[in-house]
Amino acid sequence: MTFKEHLSSIFIEEHEIPEEFKLKEEVHQREYLNNGQMHPWNGEVHIVLSPVCVKTAHGLQRKVIGTYPLCDEKEAAAALDAAVKAYDNGRGEWPTMSVADRITCVEKFTHKIIEKKNEVVKLLMWEIGKSYADSIKEFDRTVEYIYATIDALKDLDRQSSKFSIEQGIVAQIRRSPLGVVLCMGPFNYPLNETFTTLIPALIMGNTLLFKPPKHGTLLHYPLLTAFRDCFPKGVVNTIYGRGNKIIPDLMKSGDINVLTLIGSSKVANELKKLHPKVNRLRAILGLDAKNAAIITSKADISLSVQETVLGSLSFNGQRCTALKIIFVHRSLADRFLTGLSDAVSKLKFGMPWEAGVSLTPLPEPHKPAYLKECIDDAVEKGARVVNENGGVSNESFVFPAIIYPVSKGMKLYTEEQFGPVIPVVPFDDLEETITYLIESTHGQQVSIFSDDDEEIAKLIDPLVNQVSRVNINCQCQRGPDVFPFTGRKDSAEGTLSVIDALRSFSIRSLVATKLNDSNKHLINEIVDSHSSNFLITKYLF
Ligand code: G3H
Repeated sequence: MTFKEHLSSIFIEEHEIPEEFKLKEEVHQREYLNNGQMHPWNGEVHIVLSPVCVKTAHGLQRKVIGTYPLCDEKEAAAALDAAVKAYDNGRGEWPTMSVADRITCVEKFTHKIIEKKNEVVKLLMWEIGKSYADSIKEFDRTVEYIYATIDALKDLDRQSSKFSIEQGIVAQIRRSPLGVVLCMGPFNYPLNETFTTLIPALIMGNTLLFKPPKHGTLLHYPLLTAFRDCFPKGVVNTIYGRGNKIIPDLMKSGDINVLTLIGSSKVANELKKLHPKVNRLRAILGLDAKNAAIITSKADISLSVQETVLGSLSFNGQRCTALKIIFVHRSLADRFLTGLSDAVSKLKFGMPWEAGVSLTPLPEPHKPAYLKECIDDAVEKGARVVNENGGVSNESFVFPAIIYPVSKGMKLYTEEQFGPVIPVVPFDDLEETITYLIESTHGQQVSIFSDDDEEIAKLIDPLVNQVSRVNINCQCQRGPDVFPFTGRKDSAEGTLSVIDALRSFSIRSLVATKLNDSNKHLINEIVDSHSSNFLITKYLF
């Protein structure tokens, strides 16, 4: 049996899918949330095909798991209208609500989504092929993120619940919302990364247009009634449809105050340019990345191998933080490649519900062909596939390929492959690696592997000015979520972390007056009567 044939054996027949992991039924979403109501949808729909194929009489076929609305410009415009009205130039119920009351709404929402955990986790697994264990982790991490956000906001509010007196002026300084936020998340963390922008934007008092990612839409369906029931009408509105059809008009309207997108820099740039007054648009973006690992001559090879496998192949390499190019000192290259090939050969591949599975089918239909194109291009230009069965694919599954020696001019040297291909570049002088990062259009993170403190120190100083996080002897990653997550060049705009996100989705506003007896009296009256939600000194615990 060839390896390709063996690969097809990972896919099973419908009746063989374990009962506990099956979706109870296909999910056919025929409604969307707009202005506090679930609106029926009778128009065109998108058929959701799982990356998981099933064996049928006609061969392997991606399993249909449901459908969702493909709305058009009309519904998107109605959603924008609802969000604009709910914001009401900053006078709406939500933007003027006290922080304590907004927190209560978000807590209620969190309780409701926790009740939907099983449903959401299963849809996450079926829609994007993430292992069941990692789908659970994504859900739990999201809930933890929401609670951490609530705590961070209470902390921020406590710091703002006092008056500052400077040069005879007394002021209370708080953070206020920005307006209408257009929020679009990515397919690889469709719940977590979407919520790491949506929740802070929401809790700071903004109103939202929320477009779920193309792969990873249905899993949000069970949460829509929670949005409807926990927030005033028009605060959260969903939009569905082809992004290139429905988003441009929203941007051109000039009514979007914040664009938050985890996706490609190309799309982000195009969208930003459509806004008639760019100075009125804030962008919080998580974009392309091509994080490098630099394995110096003084590195611990087995640790480097272990972290490279995790860094480049967790969720099949479909993480913006994944290690997407590995520089290895020529003196270690052979031993590193042997170790890496061996480690990759031991990874368990199969269906996302299997215990201990690492490699699973890919959700983007074009991805196997694109990865093949990258591998063929490298081979044509002098590289080879180092590991046994590297790059062999069957339908939606691609076995990881280690490609060596990768060099300038190959697609894999610069393009973000976002999949299970590990390009390895040999180097002789560390300066070559620094030059790569300087010339790169990306600037998210880097990983340095070395046991020599002097060598590491010499790399840290130039590299912290190229990227936004230098990892020592470990893979690149976003977490812990309280750490700043950002990037330079085409990799990001703005900073996300539990705390930074609250700042990103708000602006400081202050109330100030000359400190004299009549103003003191006025301020005390307002504070004592609790007649303003902004000018208050109440402490949130
Ligand atoms: O896709 C990008 C994610 O933010 C990566 O997060 O490093 O925790 O996997 P992670």
